[in-house]
Amino acid sequence: MIGRVVVMEPVDYERWLNTGRPAESIALTGERLFRERGCSGCHSVNSKFHAPPLEGVFGKSSPLENGEIVPMDERYVRDSILLPGKEIAKGYQNIMPSYAGQLSEEEIMQLIAYLKSIGNQNPPDESK
Ligand code: HEC
Repeated sequence: MIGRVVVMEPVDYERWLNTGRPAESIALTGERLFRERGCSGCHSVNSKFHAPPLEGVFGKSSPLENGEIVPMDERYVRDSILLPGKEIAKGYQNIMPSYAGQLSEEEIMQLIAYLKSIGNQNPPDESK
């Protein structure tokens, strides 16, 4: 497998570091974005769309439709948001829109922080 390193523009990275906010509130901002940008409209138990739950997945691995298994890390989440058609989660369809050009670098970091923060939660029971 070929790895890829995500390089942030130094200015974005500095801004990220200099926001002076503790990780907790970055994740909270990410949670708000997750709702405001419509992610939760698909990635929630009650959604009419069939999308993978994102609770309890960060830091584990994600099986893909093409048979590969990739680590659920920052690289994968970032690509899922910007290039959703590149790696399709196993059992799902390529219906997620790309957010390229619609989210700032900072907002992507906040969404990643949010997914990280719910990485230890249990996925909701979809049978209920
Ligand atoms: C129209 C419904 C829809 C919206 C809106 C949507 N997604 Fe998705 N998302 C999906 C579907 C369906 C998949 C599985 C297919 C794929 O991998 O593209 C997916 C896959 C993902 C994955 C990979 C999950 C895995 O288990 O491999 C992540 C991470 C993700 N989305 C995050 C987001 C974030 C963050 C947003 C908001 C910025 C968002 N999604 C908005 C439908 C959606």
